[in-house]
Amino acid sequence: MELDGAVVIVTGASSGIGAATARLAAAQGAVVVLAARRADRLTALAAQLPGSLALPTDMRDPDAIARLVQTTLERHGRVDVLINNAGQGLHVPVEQIDLEDLRAVTELNFYGPLLAMQAVIPAMRRQGRGVIVNVSSATTRMVLPGVGGYSATKAALNMLSDVARAELAADGIVVSVVYPSVTATEFHQSLRAGGRAGGFGDGRIEPQSAESVAEAIVAIIRSGDPEVVLAPSWGGAVTQR
Ligand SMILES: NC(=O)c1ccc[n+]([C@@H]2O[C@H](COP(=O)([O-])OP(=O)(O)OC[C@H]3O[C@@H](n4cnc5c(N)ncnc54)[C@H](OP(=O)(O)O)[C@@H]3O)[C@@H](O)[C@H]2O)c1
Repeated sequence: MELDGAVVIVTGASSGIGAATARLAAAQGAVVVLAARRADRLTALAAQLPGSLALPTDMRDPDAIARLVQTTLERHGRVDVLINNAGQGLHVPVEQIDLEDLRAVTELNFYGPLLAMQAVIPAMRRQGRGVIVNVSSATTRMVLPGVGGYSATKAALNMLSDVARAELAADGIVVSVVYPSVTATEFHQSLRAGGRAGGFGDGRIEPQSAESVAEAIVAIIRSGDPEVVLAPSWGGAVTQR
């Protein structure tokens, strides 16, 4: 899928990877629809990206997700790309996972992307083409103590994505997964619970930039590859799967 003229929904567009991806997609000619909760940030970003639309959306709210896609279709008549990027960490040992916290991050990291996919699939099928990129985490490709709750929600998203890719191929809809490793964003300051895990922040792991992850997302929209794993140099600190 080429981005020039494509209508692209980016969730979690108010900071970090989502904002960088929205900027890059817009620079390549995409018409971007920006979704997240912080309306002020979305409005400020939209002002810099011609033709873009800021739609404040809580991705834990099924009705809000339906409205996001409906408004996009009313405004632009189509949706070519959905980037399910909104997400939050839950970085505590398994023994300490609070069920309410796990429920909250599951709603955001797993149910939200599922509902967004379900909302765009009918339109993409009618169009005969579409791309869905789900942003997972490299933590699901290793055994990293302290992130079990978060990784479990992303591992669920991985499987959902792989199955959707197989189910939707005949409709011309491509589903891809991007696996960032530790990235310099607000992510580690806005965890649902817990702190940095597995050597993050102690100098053993060099964080990636949000812009480099955005480049990987845009590249996979173009290529249609099933996945890209943005592996860090771990210094042998964790077990790779
Ligand atoms: N940073 C890393 O080290 C890292 C590594 C691997 C994977 N990832 C994944 O990359 C994705 C982007 O994270 P990031 O690093 O860019 O972190 P970030 O800067 O904290 O961005 C997270 C985004 O998610 C949005 N969000 C949070 N809760 C939301 C809700 N209920 N409804 C709608 N949007 C919501 C936030 O916007 P609002 O607060 O305005 O709603 C924000 O735009 C996430 O899925 C994350 O799991 C990050």
